[in-house]
Amino acid sequence: MVEQINPAPRLLMGPGPINADPRVLRAMSAQLLGQFDPQFREYMTETAELYRGVFQTKNRWTLLIDGTARSAIEAALASLIEPGDKVLVPIFGRFGHLKVEIAQRCGAEVAAVETEWGTVFGAEALEREIKKHRPRLVAVSHGDTSTTMAQPLAELGKLCRAHDALLYVDATATLGGMELPVDAWQLDVVSAGLQKCLAGPSGSAPLTLNERAEKRIARRKHVEAGLKKPGEKDGDGPVIRSNYFDLAMIMDYWSESALNHHTEATSMLYAARECARILLQEGLPQAFKRHAAASRALCAGLEAMGLKLFGEPKHKMANVTGVHIPAGIDGEKVRRALLEDFSIEIGTSFGPLHGRVWRIGTMGYNARKDAVLTTLAALEAVLSQQKHRLPRGAAVDAALAAYRTP
Ligand SMILES: Cc1ncc(COP(=O)(O)O)c(C=O)c1O
Repeated sequence: MVEQINPAPRLLMGPGPINADPRVLRAMSAQLLGQFDPQFREYMTETAELYRGVFQTKNRWTLLIDGTARSAIEAALASLIEPGDKVLVPIFGRFGHLKVEIAQRCGAEVAAVETEWGTVFGAEALEREIKKHRPRLVAVSHGDTSTTMAQPLAELGKLCRAHDALLYVDATATLGGMELPVDAWQLDVVSAGLQKCLAGPSGSAPLTLNERAEKRIARRKHVEAGLKKPGEKDGDGPVIRSNYFDLAMIMDYWSESALNHHTEATSMLYAARECARILLQEGLPQAFKRHAAASRALCAGLEAMGLKLFGEPKHKMANVTGVHIPAGIDGEKVRRALLEDFSIEIGTSFGPLHGRVWRIGTMGYNARKDAVLTTLAALEAVLSQQKHRLPRGAAVDAALAAYRTP
């Protein structure tokens, strides 16, 4: 027999997952309920209401997709895209490419436009692309953890409305850590995951959609044969090509009619509910401030060590930082030593940044002063061990000074 699991006490300072808040883990250990138990349905209703607060929306359809963040991206795109639809995807990192791939699998005619990794799009550039391609849907990331950049979105919703396009936003990496007022910014569909700023495990993906999106989805509504009432009619739009990710069905499941679809992932719903409760108890403005302060202190510490930050500073995410691996240093050897000697995980990079940039997360439960200071002290020690010359002690001093500066 193998041993009981006994995970090492890691400090997860990569781009996600991060350590879950212990309150979330406690909520997950609660006993299961049947999915139609009135108490469980009440938990679902409460969870939807809590996420309306997190997304800053009044959207009726605010729910969870059972799966990692990618499952909600797939649910949104599979349900919004009809075969042959024109979809515009602005790419500023790996997760833009992911949306292109999913949209293509949904039968879209994709117009992809890419900017150099480490930069984002200006509003004029996006307007130009929208006018050129006249898409039915624009699908974009808010923060792309692969480049640590955040795309400004305050103007994009209005722009999409003016050109009769829907806007889908992947806020997996920013929800709870950066300002994202869904209604004020006129974002039609937004989704996320728990394992970043929401301080939970991966495996549940909050999603919200407004009436504009509902209208497009409702005409594709199609009730499973075994659940259909006599005489019940389907919508006249093309059937959504995925059953598991059919938002029309999932909306029915979350509605008062509670029409059966999947078996809700009970423990993940407990987790998602607790993540939102923790965040709203702290207050969104305070949580955004905490993330910004941790990021500022981390950056100050890295720069005091003589390291160079990656990407446009103005568009940096508040919760993940890219840092250039210094010349002559083996990035993987440093990550290994951090893990083996200090039990700290930081991230490597993908694609064009692989081997050039480390990514350090300061998010959710780990957007804390002690986590930032410990990571800086450990990184300084490891770099020093590997014969990289740096001013000893400067990183922690600079981070502490940044924390003292309002
Ligand atoms: C912006 C963004 N989108 C999507 C994902 C995919 O999330 P998941 O691995 O939970 O499916 C990630 C994960 O890092 C991400 O950062």
